[in-house]
Amino acid sequence: MSHSNKDDNKLEVLPDEKHLLLDHDYDGIQELNHPLPNWWNVIFYISVFFGFGYFIYYQIMSGPTLRDEFKNDYAKVVAAQDEFKKLNSAFKEEKYLAVANDDGIKKGAEVFVNNCLPCHAEGGKGDIGPNLTDAHWLVAKGTPETIYNVVFNGSEANGMPPWNEVLSSEEIYHSVAYVMSLKNTNVKGGKEPQGEKVEN
Ligand code: HEC
Repeated sequence: MSHSNKDDNKLEVLPDEKHLLLDHDYDGIQELNHPLPNWWNVIFYISVFFGFGYFIYYQIMSGPTLRDEFKNDYAKVVAAQDEFKKLNSAFKEEKYLAVANDDGIKKGAEVFVNNCLPCHAEGGKGDIGPNLTDAHWLVAKGTPETIYNVVFNGSEANGMPPWNEVLSSEEIYHSVAYVMSLKNTNVKGGKEPQGEKVEN
């Protein structure tokens, strides 16, 4: 194709485009002016308007950064998890009653041997941890709920670890049933009583 012949490149204006033809002519090159459609203009101006607002809010005023938004969302997740944990950590009478029997106590004894023995010694007579066979209590009050709370949350400052992340919920209830079965058995050679005497 020859480019020397200008007429080859001449814009061919269709009859209904005549009104769009711009009246300039650069070395024979002419243009049609197709105006932008209104829907396009509307979106464009809305974007510009939004852009201004966005810039002012996020760059000049103290709009949250991505990091801030992440932190806020993350805090919500943590709060929801805490809430969930709290719900799950609460002592449930019916769950305890379901295992407060010979079978539950037997299972609790296994949990005890595997986890609690080093500190509470055989039969719960006490060593590093207090004697669990007397009527004296340091943190618990000799009831299933108070025992559950100590086992679940621990009493870390005094050396009793929390068990909620080590044992399953069932195992914790079983161990409570077992500890309840030790109460007032006053095993011989047990550690001296510690804490308050609780009659129950
Ligand atoms: C690392 C040592 C250690 C282990 C392991 C341990 N305990 Fe303890 N436990 C303690 C100490 C120490 C205390 C006393 C806490 C205090 O004075 O605040 C205690 C307290 C308790 C109490 C409350 C006693 C009271 O007088 O109020 C119960 C119930 C108990 N433990 C049950 C268990 C069970 C069940 C397990 C096993 C799942 C367990 N412990 C494992 C050290 C331990």
